[in-house]
Amino acid sequence: MNRGFLESLKNSNHLHSSSLFRLNNVNVDFGKIRALKNVNLQISRGEVLFVTGKSGAGKSTLLNILSGDVEVSSGTVTLPSSKIFVSQVFQDLKLFENRTVEENLWYAFDKKIYKSKNEFQKDLMELSSVLGIKDRLSHKIKGANGGMKQKVAMLRALLSKPEVLLADEPTAALDKESSTKMFDLLNFYNVRKGLTIVWATHNRELVKQFPGEIAHLESGKLIYSGKACFI
Ligand SMILES: Nc1ncnc2c1ncn2[C@@H]1O[C@H](COP(=O)(O)OP(=O)(O)OP(=O)(O)O)[C@@H](O)[C@H]1O
Ligand SMILES: [Mg+2]
Repeated sequence: MNRGFLESLKNSNHLHSSSLFRLNNVNVDFGKIRALKNVNLQISRGEVLFVTGKSGAGKSTLLNILSGDVEVSSGTVTLPSSKIFVSQVFQDLKLFENRTVEENLWYAFDKKIYKSKNEFQKDLMELSSVLGIKDRLSHKIKGANGGMKQKVAMLRALLSKPEVLLADEPTAALDKESSTKMFDLLNFYNVRKGLTIVWATHNRELVKQFPGEIAHLESGKLIYSGKACFI
């Protein structure tokens, strides 16, 4: 019997083989606040999912469930196997303020995924040039504006060559032109490299321009889930 068939049998009790994440009847409570209410959601390999909703709707909570940083109060969550590399861009970015842009990007370097430092350096330069931060590589993070910091955080995540990217409001401080550039870059990673992307954003207007799925939250409830172009 071939291996693929065995694999599919093994998975059939849990997830469809292309599913990476599944949430069933998920509730999350922070004390008296119920941040997510009975959320059901499935995210497939290769999908782009925009998580939208106003401030306080539960977007970050949802992403933190997917990253394993927050536990559900009730319901069930299935996360990808530990072999799948998931990279995160946090809402608060988590950059090293006293280090330079380039030093922050080098935190993505891993001998297991790059053949050499030269190869990493090449990617670093290429990506920095795409987002227009090449001339800032030697500048300290401290003193950089919010948009610049978001670009660095995104590049650091992409340089770690993830299979899944969880990005929490990565364009909040960017102007329209830079936001579009970042969307285009991520779209490229999705189409060309099969990167699965979960992206929390306030910006419904930008989302409508891109193919993908939307999960729209209101006060912790998932009130729409489907194609972005239909909202
Ligand atoms: N660690 C926490 N402790 C207590 N309450 C929390 C915690 N994290 C989130 N909350 C509350 O849960 C709700 C959802 O918050 P969450 O941060 O997920 O919203 P959000 O959609 O990401 O908002 P924003 O757009 O402002 O980032 C809010 O009422 C928030 O105050
Ligand atoms: Mg948030």
